[in-house]
Amino acid sequence: MFVYAANVPISTTLHLWLVKYCTPLVILALLFHLPFVFVVMGGATLSIVFNLLDKKETNPRFRQLAQDLLGKALHPSWLLFLGVIPIVCISALQLQIYGSAPDKLMQWGVMLALIVLGFVLLLLYQYTFARRDVAFLLHIGCGIAGLFSLVHGYLLFIYNKGILLYPAMWEAMPNPLDFTSFLSFFPTFLPMFVLFALIGLAIGGGFMVGKFGSKKMVAAKGAEYTGFACKVGLYVALVFTALQPAVVFWHFTFLPRAAVSWPVLVVGLSIMVLGMLVCLCIYGALLRPGSFFEKLVVALLFLNVGAFVADDYVTRDAALYEQCQYVESKAVKAMPRPAGYNPVVQGQEIYEMKCMACHTMDGSPKVGPSFKGIFDRTETVLREGKEVEVIIDEAYVRRAILSPAADLVKGYQNLMTQQNLSEDELQEIIAYLQTAK
Ligand code: HEC
Repeated sequence: MFVYAANVPISTTLHLWLVKYCTPLVILALLFHLPFVFVVMGGATLSIVFNLLDKKETNPRFRQLAQDLLGKALHPSWLLFLGVIPIVCISALQLQIYGSAPDKLMQWGVMLALIVLGFVLLLLYQYTFARRDVAFLLHIGCGIAGLFSLVHGYLLFIYNKGILLYPAMWEAMPNPLDFTSFLSFFPTFLPMFVLFALIGLAIGGGFMVGKFGSKKMVAAKGAEYTGFACKVGLYVALVFTALQPAVVFWHFTFLPRAAVSWPVLVVGLSIMVLGMLVCLCIYGALLRPGSFFEKLVVALLFLNVGAFVADDYVTRDAALYEQCQYVESKAVKAMPRPAGYNPVVQGQEIYEMKCMACHTMDGSPKVGPSFKGIFDRTETVLREGKEVEVIIDEAYVRRAILSPAADLVKGYQNLMTQQNLSEDELQEIIAYLQTAK
């Protein structure tokens, strides 16, 4: 809805209502979906890395870990309830809210297809583990392609949502799938995506700590193997958590002004503080394997996901105000006026939004002459270089607004900018100026 390509319908009150009341639902779905996706992406990355390490220099622990990591993360019923269903719901809702013009359908559709394809390929990777020794390239190829597809899908996801945040994107997107326009906005949403990826990998590490640190696992697989897995998980979580504060800071430098508010700063700061706490706990867990520090690391990492979602929410919330104003001004311009409305009220709003910077209502001159008593006063203007006396009437005001340079009021500079008012708006501002006695 906020992307005003010419073919996108103008918003209605239903849209605004949806934005207001359905955003919490989207967030709830994200709270279930994101941790799962993080675990899958982090787990798949680590699994592929260990799979390749084992190929290079056979190590039964690496091989076991590569297999266990994905086996634990990608259970088919989890995949359905935490993976596919929430992202389909989120997309459907967002399309409802932000308009379902063909280009938007494409944009969300391609994203969904990539994500589902990614899940399917990773399942294939998991199932081909049995045939790993005879067809390694096929097996690892499925894993890498699946991961790539997921990463690409979520890059599009962040991008699709980024449109909400960056006002510059609303008008400039004739075709959102056009790769050059995608690239030109890349820097603005890149920090958000990098943060997303870092949290994903850190959660992947935390997942290993939680999974392999459990008593059941230790009993089943032996302390030596699970101890090794926990240690790997801790180092992964440490590295990818330690990088987060820098990215949060980087994101701040790109946020549009309307999106920066106190909650945004507070949530950003809490991601940094949480990150530091996680690092401290990891240090403790490395010093004392099997202690409560491990559990604390896992809990704090999941809090981190919450902070990420909160960050997404508060930045969007702050930008929403500006968006609503934008939508309203567009809608007002395009909508037929209802019968019996008061054009003077509308005219006053236009005055306050577009003219007040240069024109006063109290008789004092500013950049331009005051509007006080403007109708029927006599004035000297420069027309084609000659001074002429005019009595200000509706035709003159119209001309003054539509082509400001045609008549220059004596004593003023040619500073009035083109106002770009619709016919309705012109009538409204004139009605308002007629009341300015
Ligand atoms: C950037 C400053 C600026 C803005 C914004 C601006 N004006 Fe002006 N306006 C001027 C200046 C300077 C003049 C005098 C020079 C001229 O006549 O072009 C002027 C002149 C006029 C006049 C002729 C006044 C007279 O006494 O003859 C009218 C009518 C007018 N503006 C209407 C508007 C309306 C309506 C808006 C808002 C939709 C608007 N202006 C916004 C600067 C501005």
